[in-house]
Amino acid sequence: MTPPESMTDDLQPVQPLNFTLNGEPQNLRAPAYRLVLDLLRDVIGLTGTKEGCGTGDCGACTVLLNGRPVNTCLIFAGELHGAEVQTIEGLGGADDLHPLQSAFVAEGGVQCGYCTPGMILMAAALLEENPEPTDDEIRFALAGNLCRCTGYSRIINSVRRAAEEMRQSDSG
Ligand code: FES
Ligand code: FES
Repeated sequence: MTPPESMTDDLQPVQPLNFTLNGEPQNLRAPAYRLVLDLLRDVIGLTGTKEGCGTGDCGACTVLLNGRPVNTCLIFAGELHGAEVQTIEGLGGADDLHPLQSAFVAEGGVQCGYCTPGMILMAAALLEENPEPTDDEIRFALAGNLCRCTGYSRIINSVRRAAEEMRQSDSG
């Protein structure tokens, strides 16, 4: 259900939101109908999550909600209450890149970078469930994430490389 267009944030019901974001507790009050994408970027200031289409078609806005990938342009803030959220900022930073992040750099899976946070979080969810995916399984998992730059092969190579490195470090 979407609010009437004339309804501004000031008129929307504000509700308490208690959730975990990248391992840190968040206690906010926010309009229940504010999009999670806007909450993350404009209220909390985590701009790693990108807005592409705004209609659930490109995957640029993907985050993990209780470990599962969701399009934050499609869900309302109220759905975060009691949940665990992970954004790209929580996966790894400049000084401690996650294996997926370093593999995307090494394999050229990042070009303009706009799709990259969503791609990486979607891939992280895949590798959590399936640490040794085939290339077809990687393609299938990333089918909802669009990239205008790479032609996708380098992204598949990046995920395959990260999976190999993660398996090696798990077995070492
Ligand atoms: Fe959410 Fe495109 S911005 S799917
Ligand atoms: Fe530019 Fe994917 S790297 S959209």
